Amino acid sequence: MSARSFAAWLTVVALCASSSLGCREEHGDDPPIAPERNMYDSERYNPESYSQFFPDHRTMRPPVEGTIARDRYEDDPEVATGLLADKSGYVMTIPATFVTRHGGMEKILARGRERFGIYCAPCHGLTGDGKGMVVCKRDKATDPCQSRGFAPLPSYEDPRLRQMPDGQLFATITHGVRTMPAYGAQVPIPDRWAIVAYVRALQLSQMAEAKPPQVEPKPAAGPEGDRPQGGNP
Ligand code: HEC
Repeated sequence: MSARSFAAWLTVVALCASSSLGCREEHGDDPPIAPERNMYDSERYNPESYSQFFPDHRTMRPPVEGTIARDRYEDDPEVATGLLADKSGYVMTIPATFVTRHGGMEKILARGRERFGIYCAPCHGLTGDGKGMVVCKRDKATDPCQSRGFAPLPSYEDPRLRQMPDGQLFATITHGVRTMPAYGAQVPIPDRWAIVAYVRALQLSQMAEAKPPQVEPKPAAGPEGDRPQGGNP
């Protein structure tokens, strides 16, 4: 047999073999040949299918009564929404239950600083002055802001934003406001509160008035202070 006819014969054999074995994506009544079944075809229920095992025959089991989704804070509506439990207004400060649950303010602030840098600073700027790189074009960091035409952003120094309840800041991140997009889908609840804490820290640090420190005059040395140590009275 010549090399060429041998190659042709080999091709025919290969084609026959592959057509009789079939491929995974092909539909047929015969089970596919899987040499190593193992976890390839593990036992499972299809959604909404019938179960012989459970008395109500539902394969989709309802969660055990009292189950709480860990990341939704359903047990703590103030943390979940930033609204007072009776929904009459926003919570004024970050709920204390949240702070204890998340290992204290220092840890929360560190996380908030990082998340703020990712999710807010591009528009609001690292200091919260509303002049982030989305808003301002600059060749050097020290150049003045050249608007790119983005909606103007308020500075966090704005007295209205300084007085805004923490819960409203939280809700602003969750739902967005006017031209600001919502970040509830990207930023989970604990990170939103952490960002709120960091915005508060920014407001305090950026808004400190530049005035010389007040030095308390030393109280005039009284009879106690004057008394010589160990001397004769
Ligand atoms: C895509 C740009 C963009 C990003 C990112 C962004 N913001 Fe804003 N933000 C805006 C704009 C624009 C406004 C002004 C909205 C208006 O008044 O129309 C605004 C306004 C605000 C206000 C003032 C709301 C008010 O009631 O006037 C707060 C507070 C705020 N943003 C916080 C945040 C925080 C916190 C983040 C990060 C989670 C963030 N923003 C991310 C664009 C952005």
